[in-house]
Amino acid sequence: MEISSVLAGGYHHSLARSWQAKRQLTKSMFMYPIFITDDPDAHVEIASLPGQARWGVNKLEGFLGPLVKKGLQSVILFGVPLKCNKDDRGTPADDPDGPVISAIRVLRKLFPDLYIATDVCLCEYTSHGHCGLFRPDSSGTLLPDESAARIAEVALAYARAGAHCVAPSDMMDGRIRAIKRALMEGGYANRCTLMSYSAKFASALYGPFRDAAGSAPAFGNRKCYQLPPQGKGLARRAIQRDVAEGADIVMVKPALPYLDVIQDAAQLAPDHPLACYQVSGEYAMVVAGARAGVYDLKTMAFETSESFVRAGCTLILSYFTPQFLDWLEV
Ligand code: PBG
Ligand code: ZN
Repeated sequence: MEISSVLAGGYHHSLARSWQAKRQLTKSMFMYPIFITDDPDAHVEIASLPGQARWGVNKLEGFLGPLVKKGLQSVILFGVPLKCNKDDRGTPADDPDGPVISAIRVLRKLFPDLYIATDVCLCEYTSHGHCGLFRPDSSGTLLPDESAARIAEVALAYARAGAHCVAPSDMMDGRIRAIKRALMEGGYANRCTLMSYSAKFASALYGPFRDAAGSAPAFGNRKCYQLPPQGKGLARRAIQRDVAEGADIVMVKPALPYLDVIQDAAQLAPDHPLACYQVSGEYAMVVAGARAGVYDLKTMAFETSESFVRAGCTLILSYFTPQFLDWLEV
């Protein structure tokens, strides 16, 4: 054998294997998505998202307290209003007594060191279940400027309530600029991070989330605003646009089928933190495969998360976060 053929000496030991990673997975890389509903005492399991539930604000201390003790450092909140009156402009999104704003207030008090991000979108709050606003003439045309302005209003309301980060997932053109401006004018631009779901694809992997959040569109689909899965160039343009419009963090979503896009984002926005979202359907797939005996759950959860870091991510939105708090040392 030639000297240059021998690689195994470099990774025969577990410690030497860990040095092969440019960056190690750490607890601080995990942001936990949680669903907050408007029944304050709710704890309702979500059948299609095993191990996850919809929580009421009164249950957050008992739910998150033990996780914070284990090293949970950040969460992202999704509102699941069940009792509100949804309308065509998503009025309940920034209801001061709605689930998200109530949860921000409660969590800031309970856990002063917990970083609180909020998803910002209208689909959970609109009567039509779409992420933006439509022209009133029933032509089915989205209004990008009006949508961005409304989404910016909602983002500012979450910042005012105390969110450390607002993360728009709607995919309307121009919303990053609109939110950044609103944060600047409201005096929050220096104390609220703007994380853009920049490369968010129209994916089959959001099904369990839409079950959980009750946010499936009442008609049509999201293909005119979420990116087409084959659109690598569009994703690159969206990432560059959002950086130019003032995003502090860019995100790729879903994660595993889009590792090439994560790698592109790392190269296009090398000076920004890079997030990915291992979405509900990816999580459900990993869990289902393990239950079917295809692989060991923990091994597969590590393999997928390590692939995100290898591709360039510094932050992972993951439903596996509670388990990683047990699995990781730091
Ligand atoms: C809403 C939103 C969705 C997700 C995050 N924010 C669903 C969608 O766009 O239909 C998906 C998250 C997941 O599947 O875990 N805009
Ligand atoms: Zn939406």
